[in-house]
Amino acid sequence: MKTWIITGGAGFIGSNFILKARSKNLARVINFDKLTYAGNLENLESLKGDEDHILVKGDIAEAEDVSSLYDRYQPDAVLHFAAESHVDRSITGPEDFVRTNVMGTFHMLECARKYWSELSSERQNDFRFLHVSTDEVYGSLSLEDPAFSEKTSYKPNSPYSASKAASDHIVRSYFHTYQMPVLTTNCSNNYGCYQFPEKLIPLMINKALTEQPLPIYGDGKNIRDWLHVEDHVYGILKVLAKGRIGETYNIGGNTEKTNREVVDTICATLDRVKPRSNGSKYSDLITFVKDRPGHDRRYAVDASKMQKELGWEPIETFDTGMTKTIDWYMNNQAWFDRVLDGSYRGERLGIS
Ligand SMILES: NC(=O)c1ccc[n+]([C@@H]2O[C@H](COP(=O)([O-])OP(=O)(O)OC[C@H]3O[C@@H](n4cnc5c(N)ncnc54)[C@H](O)[C@@H]3O)[C@@H](O)[C@H]2O)c1
Repeated sequence: MKTWIITGGAGFIGSNFILKARSKNLARVINFDKLTYAGNLENLESLKGDEDHILVKGDIAEAEDVSSLYDRYQPDAVLHFAAESHVDRSITGPEDFVRTNVMGTFHMLECARKYWSELSSERQNDFRFLHVSTDEVYGSLSLEDPAFSEKTSYKPNSPYSASKAASDHIVRSYFHTYQMPVLTTNCSNNYGCYQFPEKLIPLMINKALTEQPLPIYGDGKNIRDWLHVEDHVYGILKVLAKGRIGETYNIGGNTEKTNREVVDTICATLDRVKPRSNGSKYSDLITFVKDRPGHDRRYAVDASKMQKELGWEPIETFDTGMTKTIDWYMNNQAWFDRVLDGSYRGERLGIS
């Protein structure tokens, strides 16, 4: 069986990826995670007792933590998800973003290079370093602009997107300078189960279910492209299996929505499945709050390269994906509660 090092595997997308990889027995998974506030081992509870999921607590920004990983586990591939990922936090505390996203990616790459250069030529050819990145590196679009393609120039606007852009450039340089077999994916906004409730969709679902105001930034007209996390996982697996080394692939849902539309969808769904006891609509809870500084107006992703080269297309529509997602959060209130009261950080499962 292949061995994959997965960084950030206790986070939202990383845990969804690991659950898929282990349910299909695609590889032995070494889950390397610092377990910051965003890392939640309860996402991986169903893997308790699975000997092919090995959790290693460590920091990608510490060279020593990273270097021992490669020698010890001899990976066939690295799937690099770990990052500081929340734009608002990058505005109030950018240093962690530079440290983890830039220096952390550098250490993951540099240690991979040393390890890879000593592999047999057959294993060198098969090795892959897949860097998971974001569409936010391209900056903001006007309503008339075409969607971001892989050729769009980078114009990041927040410390988060700038740190991800820097990491993408370092990854690119390891292909052009050292011919390392790297791949980069730039994906739009994900939603689905196990997403930390500071991000728009789980935040709004939780606030609505607990009858709190639903705060929308500015005029609510900022547009994002939305993709269900399982479609992202499926796209990453395609890129890993068939992507051309040194290439970047944009992954998107072809689903542009304003923030207001997203919140309206949540409210309308909840009105249907769990009407409020006082008879009013969930949308009555909507309030508009001061806009985020430098808030990008619009993102849109042209994912035609994924479709043409790799035969990938999203399976979920926004309607089916949102219905599944709202359903999951409604049925997993205990997960929400343990994140919100902090108790999810108290439990540590089999850390080596
Ligand atoms: N969420 C999205 O909508 C989205 C969209 C496109 C791309 N991405 C990218 O996908 C990746 C995963 O995003 P996510 O939403 O799952 O993030 P997340 O914040 O939910 O999870 C991040 C994980 O990385 C871990 N981590 C943070 N710093 C670390 C460090 N220094 N060393 C080791 N582990 C560390 C955390 O403990 C956590 O488990 C990120 O690289 C992000 O930029 C996210």
